[in-house]
Amino acid sequence: MDIRKRIEKLREEIDNHNYHYYVLDEPLIPDAEYDRLLRELRELEARHPELITPDSPTQRVGAEPVEAFGTVRHEVPMLSLDNAFSEEEVAAFHRRVSERLGQSAIDYTAEPKLDGLAVSLRYEKGVLAQGATRGDGYTGEDITQNVRTIPSIPLRLRGKGIPEVLEVRGEVYMSRSGFEALNARQRKAGEKTFVNPRNAAAGSLRQLDPRITAQRPLAIYCYGIGVVQGWALPERHSAVLERLKEWGLRVNDEIRVVRGVEGCLAYYRTLQARRDALDYDIDGVVYKVDLFSQQETLGFVSRAPRWAIAHKFPAQEALTKVLAIDIQVGRTGALTPVARLEPVFVGGATVTNATLHNEDEIHRKDVRVGDTVVVRRAGDVIPEVVSVVKERRPRGAAPFEMVKTCPVCGSDVMRNEGEAVARCTGGLYCPAQRKEAIKHFASRKAMDIEGLGDKLVDQLVDKGLVSNVADLYTLTRAQLAGLERMGEKSAANLVRAIEDSKATTLARFLYALGIREVGEATALALANHFGKLSGLMAASEETLQTVPDVGPVVAANIHAFFRQAHNREVIERLRQAGVHWKDLDIRRAEALPLQGKTFVITGRLDTMTRDEAKARLQALGAKVAGSVSSKTDYVVAGEDPGSKYDKALALGIEILDEQGLLNLLAG
Ligand code: IVH
Repeated sequence: MDIRKRIEKLREEIDNHNYHYYVLDEPLIPDAEYDRLLRELRELEARHPELITPDSPTQRVGAEPVEAFGTVRHEVPMLSLDNAFSEEEVAAFHRRVSERLGQSAIDYTAEPKLDGLAVSLRYEKGVLAQGATRGDGYTGEDITQNVRTIPSIPLRLRGKGIPEVLEVRGEVYMSRSGFEALNARQRKAGEKTFVNPRNAAAGSLRQLDPRITAQRPLAIYCYGIGVVQGWALPERHSAVLERLKEWGLRVNDEIRVVRGVEGCLAYYRTLQARRDALDYDIDGVVYKVDLFSQQETLGFVSRAPRWAIAHKFPAQEALTKVLAIDIQVGRTGALTPVARLEPVFVGGATVTNATLHNEDEIHRKDVRVGDTVVVRRAGDVIPEVVSVVKERRPRGAAPFEMVKTCPVCGSDVMRNEGEAVARCTGGLYCPAQRKEAIKHFASRKAMDIEGLGDKLVDQLVDKGLVSNVADLYTLTRAQLAGLERMGEKSAANLVRAIEDSKATTLARFLYALGIREVGEATALALANHFGKLSGLMAASEETLQTVPDVGPVVAANIHAFFRQAHNREVIERLRQAGVHWKDLDIRRAEALPLQGKTFVITGRLDTMTRDEAKARLQALGAKVAGSVSSKTDYVVAGEDPGSKYDKALALGIEILDEQGLLNLLAG
């Protein structure tokens, strides 16, 4: 085929794919196929440079950096919009429009108000000739080379009836996901990050080097026109937008035609509710009288049209002062610093507190009491402190220091290495952690108190009947029978269940204490190793680390837990109430027959469940793992074993059938 024709064909095809991908969001072919087409075009153009045209899809990035942008005069000025901040102001706008037009059934287009930068794109004979910023509305900057790099801006228009000259106006923006990805990239490269998508878009578009702009995830939504030559305009703005779409320009698909003020407000509420779900920032809604004849009748006042208005959403960011930094203790003991703020109206509500996340975040942002800060409240998200206005810091404002003891119960605070969160170590006693601690204590794998569910625990604590786990053993039938949804019978049953739970094992008891990161397996390993509680409570961190499965973090957690006087008191009260177990003879504990052996169980067993098999193996000192590796000593294979069985075969690991397991358990 003629090379020239092939090149033309490729360009058409690629343009079409760009249109489907970037404008319609409906890609037609896999990326790899697209890349192949582009590669072929590049190769042909490299061999025939005389055939390269500026509107070829290969020519998006090409220009050299400039010293400064040239200026562009806007023949049709780029105006701004009046703002409305309430429904009343929108109603007043509609009243003014109706009165001037002498009718009240007005059609408006309702459009998202994108939070980006206004640009103007000039197409001559369908080819992108110039891109400009809004500037002061009358003159802007020539950013042609930069807009050419934005994939959703076509270098040439498609379809029929393309005007001689068409100036399109729209908003260049950065999607939220693109913004996150860009910031992650910047962070990794050790470069500065951007505060929000709008700033990132502005910084990217106004780059003197278009190659940098090309690497930024920018996009456009077109919402209007400027100069037009050679096109008999349709009657309505909405019809213009339709045509722009047909010509390959990207138009937001949330745009609707609505009737009257009710239509406008309904649109506003719907979009506001979905605001957080969109992948781009919008700061309100724009209403425009749809009929051009009506727009003409209405005209302009100073620099804004009478036929349009921006209905703004409540601002999501505001300035206020930090009055104090308090520490909140969560129900699992996590300490969260919270900024107490001078009340400020933001995101549609008055905010007096904002989360500061954790100690490192405070230091990163360097938030201090007395600082003026930017607070952000977006949708239903908890308000947060975004940044500090350092210029307004009062003299003598001291850097933040994390508390050393829990503000609720006075126990030590600890922060494990590699973790962002500091925690209270008074788990058994701390009022903030009360409910969680009691629920865990009573749970099936812990003290197994049947009938003591979460709702009941909430009631017991709320009524002041129980403030820590030891109080459970003082509960009487009469007290329980007085609770909601508790009869005489269930009260009697619960008292019996509490009584029964007193006879337990050391492993269960240790697990029930709710020490951080001490799960069932670790509790069992500790019980097997120490045999008695006293030895464990007195153990140093070094000693604790000699227990299988206990690393430095778990050892530190255990050590800190038993060092708290409050925790020890509760344990003492539990024992006085009659909680007991059989101490293990440590010599026997050390000589557990399966100590140091790792098992994996797969398939169905006939005589017991897999959980039971696991518990019985663990009781003999074995470790039971979830997957097969070279460290596995035995694989127990029941009926219909899974891939673990195959892996064991492949690795040459000893396989036991159910009888083999039973023999082993019988010693
Ligand atoms: S129409 C004469 N429509 O808002 C009408 N503007 O405050 C001119 N904007 O500079 C603008 N989304 O940057 C219009 N759907 C939309 C818009 C929109 C965002 C921006 C644009 C403009 C500013 C006016």
